[in-house]
Order: sequence, then C-alpha cells, then structure tokens
Amino acid sequence: MAPAAVTRPEVRSEPTAYDALKKHFEEYPEQRFEHPHKWDVSRSDIYAENTWHPIFREMREAGPLHFIPESPFGPYWAVVGHKAIQHIEALPDVFSSSWEHGGITILNRLTEEELAEAGEDSRELPMFIAMDRPQHTGQRRTVAPKFTPSGMAEMEGEIRQRTGELLDTLPRGEVFDWVDKVSIELTTGMLAILFGFPWEDRRLLTFWSDWSGDTELASVRALDKVRWEILKEMGAYFQSLWVERTHDKEPGDDLISMMIHSEAMNQMRPEEFMGNLVLLIVGGNDTTRNSMSGFVYQLDKNPDQRKLFEQNPDVIPNAVQEMLRMQTPLAHMRRTCTEDTEVFGQTIKKGDKVVLWYLSANRDEEVFENPDKLDLTRENARRHIAFGYGIHRCVGARLAELQLRILLEEMHKRRIRVHVAGDIERVRANFVHGFRKLEVEVTEF
Ligand code: HEM
Repeated sequence: MAPAAVTRPEVRSEPTAYDALKKHFEEYPEQRFEHPHKWDVSRSDIYAENTWHPIFREMREAGPLHFIPESPFGPYWAVVGHKAIQHIEALPDVFSSSWEHGGITILNRLTEEELAEAGEDSRELPMFIAMDRPQHTGQRRTVAPKFTPSGMAEMEGEIRQRTGELLDTLPRGEVFDWVDKVSIELTTGMLAILFGFPWEDRRLLTFWSDWSGDTELASVRALDKVRWEILKEMGAYFQSLWVERTHDKEPGDDLISMMIHSEAMNQMRPEEFMGNLVLLIVGGNDTTRNSMSGFVYQLDKNPDQRKLFEQNPDVIPNAVQEMLRMQTPLAHMRRTCTEDTEVFGQTIKKGDKVVLWYLSANRDEEVFENPDKLDLTRENARRHIAFGYGIHRCVGARLAELQLRILLEEMHKRRIRVHVAGDIERVRANFVHGFRKLEVEVTEF
C-alpha cells in the first residue's frame, strides 16, 4: 500500500549564498578579510581572479609545507607538495578529520561561548568525511556499494540519455551561460536520480550546496546563522523523503532507500543519517559542476588540445583525468594534528591546523612535467589528487568520472564545439574552486 502523501516542509530558495555574502560586505566593508601574509592562500581573491598560480609555485619552490602564522582563519600549515599531501593523508590517525579536532575545511570551530550566544549546541552535522576510524569505516560502507563498477553500469544509460537530451536543446548562434544551462542542470539532475529527489525541486540541491560549501560565508557570524537555518530546512526536507521511503513496501534502489535498509544504518543516529545525506549532496554537487565548466574553459584556451579531442575521441578517458587535474574542483581539505610529528623536516605540533592544497599538488613540477599546460595525452594524469588520497579518497569518484566521460562522449558524437564568448565569473572562495558564470557559444566541428 502506498504511504499517505508526505507533505514537504516550507523551504526558502533565495537569496543565493553568493548574493548574501556580496550584500553583507557591501553593507559592512570593514568586515572584509585582511591577508597580510604573502603566502596566506586562504584569500579568496586569488581564486576569483585566477592569480593563484605564481603564489603556489613560489611556495613549492621553497618547500612542500609552510607555517602561515596569521590569517583570518588563524595560523595554519599550508601543505603545497604532492608527496607531502599523500604522506599526511596516509596517516589518518595522526592527522584527524573529525569535527572534534576541527573538521575538514580551513574554518575554525565555533567556541562554547559563540554557540551559547547563538543558543545552539553545535553547528556540526555528523558525517563520515569528518570522522576518523573506526566510525568512518562503518559509515562509508553504507553508501560505497552504490558507487561500485556495477552500480555505475546501472546508472550509465540514464545519465547518457539525459546528457544527450540536454545537449540537443542547446541554442546555436546565441550566447548562453554554460554553468547554468549545462553544468548545474546535469549535476542536479544526476543527484536527483541518485537520491530519488523530487525532480521539480532539483535546483534546491544547488542552492543548499552553495550555502553549505562556502567557507568565507561561514566565517561571517551573521551569515553562518542564516546558513545554519537553511541547512536545517534542508534537513527537514530530507526528513520528509526519509519518512516517505521508510514506508515504501518495496525498497527502491535510490541512495536514501539503500541507506534506510542497510544494516549499518541501524547503528546510525538520525542526525548522522541527515549529515551523510548532506555530505553526498555537497560532495557531488559543486565538484562535478565545476569540472564540467572547467572542461569547456580549458578546451577553449587550448586549441591544439581541442583539435586532438575532436580528431581522436579515444583520448576521452585520459582527458577526463587531465581536466580534473587542471581544474581541481576542491582547492583544499584540512586535517588537525593529534600528536607532535615530523613531516619533511618540519615539526607539526599537536593541535596544529594542516591545510592540504590539492590545487597546488596537482601543479607540482616534481610529478607533472610542464604542469600548467593542458595535455590530454599526459601519461601520468591519473596521479592527480583532485579526489584526495587514502581512506577518505572521494567515494563518488567513479560517478564523477562517469558523468564527465559521458559529457565529453556525447559532445563529441554531436560534433559540438564550445567557444567562450562572454563573461567569465569565478567562485570567490578558497574551498570550492570553479565558475559562477561562463558565457559560451556553440558551433559544430
Ligand atoms: C570526499 C573531491 C564528486 C561524495 C572527497 C574528497 C575530495 C573530493 C577532495 C576528500 C578526500 C580526502 O579527504 O582525501 C571530489 C571531486 C568530485 C567529487 C573533485 C567531482 C569531480 C563526488 C560525488 C559524490 C562525492 C559525485 C557523491 C555523489 C564524496 C564523499 C566523500 C568525498 C561522500 C567522503 C569520503 C570519505 O570521507 O571517506 N571528494 N568529489 N564526491 N566525496 Fe567527492
């Protein structure tokens, strides 16, 4: 018997995180962050203006990790070398991901006083990306089966069909925003399929993801409060989906049903269930979206490589890796040191914040020859660490790769060539690395 219709809670869908932050700084310009240290790569302007390359290059030349004593996020270690990041990620007990120590982004935890002032117990949703072993292992296992090669094979047909249909609707001879029309549409569509999320509301996934993933916004206290309210609305919305699926007689094959009916779920508290759903939405959203925009931008900037792609579609699987390396949709992840440790000649103290700059590691000259050049046939493109490394390596990596490969294949099949033909606006953030707007025009090759 079908369950009684579950009413969805009221949720807001504006303002966007970007508009809220912009407005806030216009009203309170004195609250803008200052970055006096020349190597403080937490500054978001270098990502918005695409000027980060020489700074990281200079840092890598000087060594694989550096202590930055002063930043709006407090002191931190900036790890910029490929080998050093892998070394640290291979020691997850020494370099913790857990909220209790500080979580996974450069942000500081709220203090007891700040929480008391806000009248809240916590603003940290339990999710396995921010857990250490053994909890991490058990919870990751709940969702991992959805992302196996056979799980992916089941989704391939649907993703391909949707991608093709969308590409067929793109206007010709007209400038349009690739981010909005293609990257967001494909990413939210895929997540809606994955979660069995109501189709008409799919853009909410982007709205929520933007609010939860912006580190600068989260460090402005007034906005963090709004952010938290919005995340609670998202929680309530997912709760309604959960209730609905719990009553399903035949469990569906969407991720929410899978989690509800998995054995490990019995050991998960409702907050953990919600936290992990949020993780999957955010994890799969900005990241894949920005890879899709990065593709188009990079091909346009490198006509020799575009020609290669157009003449030889066999390069596509490797091209996906190379484009992930070049884009690196998450600029950093953070760890906190749990005991005094020596890393490449430097002593990291217990309690120190350690920020792993994937964006820099993927341009490390010691691993990648001529790293700033897009090379679709690069032999070791797969060594990029855009998905991280070690026990927390992205659980959705195969799904992301699948979507990106399909997008390139379907573009190739239709002989679509995309030209950047208007405004480019990059995300002003030190965590999500990507595009807010990318105006393009489509022709045929
Ligand atoms: C973890 C990147 C797509 C879900 C991560 C991490 C990175 C990352 C850097 C952290 C790794 C570490 O700490 O070592 C990316 C990129 C993507 C992408 C660049 C797209 C191009 C996805 C998708 C999903 C997803 C499509 C699911 C729908 C997750 C989850 C984790 C994670 C659940 C936590 C894994 C753990 O802690 O064990 N991702 N991701 N990601 N990602 Fe992704």
